[in-house]
Amino acid sequence: MLGMLDGMVEHLFTPAQLARLAACGEILDPVPLSSWDDPRTGVLLADAEILVGHWGCPTLTEAVLDRAPDLRLFAYGAGTVKWQVTDAVFARGVTVTSAAAANAVSVAEYAVGAILLANKGVFVVRELQRDPNARVTFDATRIGNRGTRVGIVGASLVGRLVIEMLRSTEICVAVYDPYLSAAEAVQLGVEKVDDLDALCASVRLLSIHAPDIPPTREMIGAAQLAALPDGATVVNTARPALVDQDALVAALTSGRLSAVLDVTEPDPLPADHPLLALPNAFVTPHVAGAMGNELIRLSELAVTEVERFVRGDPPLHPVVAADLDRIA
Ligand SMILES: NC(=O)c1ccc[n+]([C@@H]2O[C@H](COP(=O)([O-])OP(=O)(O)OC[C@H]3O[C@@H](n4cnc5c(N)ncnc54)[C@H](O)[C@@H]3O)[C@@H](O)[C@H]2O)c1
Repeated sequence: MLGMLDGMVEHLFTPAQLARLAACGEILDPVPLSSWDDPRTGVLLADAEILVGHWGCPTLTEAVLDRAPDLRLFAYGAGTVKWQVTDAVFARGVTVTSAAAANAVSVAEYAVGAILLANKGVFVVRELQRDPNARVTFDATRIGNRGTRVGIVGASLVGRLVIEMLRSTEICVAVYDPYLSAAEAVQLGVEKVDDLDALCASVRLLSIHAPDIPPTREMIGAAQLAALPDGATVVNTARPALVDQDALVAALTSGRLSAVLDVTEPDPLPADHPLLALPNAFVTPHVAGAMGNELIRLSELAVTEVERFVRGDPPLHPVVAADLDRIA
């Protein structure tokens, strides 16, 4: 029996996907439940063996699990599942899956687009066309993607897709990630750099893809920004906490660096924020992840995980307690 949980986003499962779920087991209620205060909660939890969740759905606490004795799978049809699960979920042996890998496709596409355009000088040239005196660094001899060295911070789901997509270009990729083994780096066809400052000093562009966890907070600080060469670009599609934003604003205001930022503090920025007025900051309001016609990738992966679970196949993207302190 399946229970449907939902939060901010309603009706993300298409009729065809709901039919596939119905083929896996009885859907207890096709209208998703978005709060444990909902009067339907008791019946749903009492009978559900599988819960399918989406962005912002309520958290599976110990007290909630006490009311769900048969629960065996929580298939989350969105990215970061940390806020929807608790230790109790893993302690009870409930299988957890997430659709972060599906969300990563959209983020990687945004990042690769930003990398290719930034290396080509597109963002800066556009501003110089509008204002020839714009305070930006532009060196016509350095632009282009041929042989350009790009640094990736975090061989995460997104980071690995970016690496894969860049393989069809002539960009040279170097990666900083303490969890990336030398053998994996060889397999990915990238150079592994163990010193973040050295990576910064050696690249024209730094693209940030690590999760927001205590060791990564402000990992790109004043020293790392200072290490980047003049005219380099910082691309952040990860989380604002990874970058010392004041130091970045100072570097951008000087005109020395450029940035493409999908995530900022606050997120999104108010219209009068100084970052939005800088000619060398291309800022978007947290749109890199799945949106519009991309959302179906998330629900599709959740449905696939349910089908696999019912067939007895291992999950494609299990989330295990041991990884929680190093994943997004
Ligand atoms: N802008 C958006 O709309 C959007 C959407 C989805 C995800 N994100 C963000 O993108 C980033 C990547 O997401 P993901 O799902 O690919 O992450 P993920 O869960 O796959 O990241 C985990 C990996 O990051 C790497 N890592 C861990 N600690 C690190 C460290 N100290 N330094 C360098 N690398 C480290 C390790 O390889 C680890 O396995 C996250 O910050 C996530 O929040 C943004």
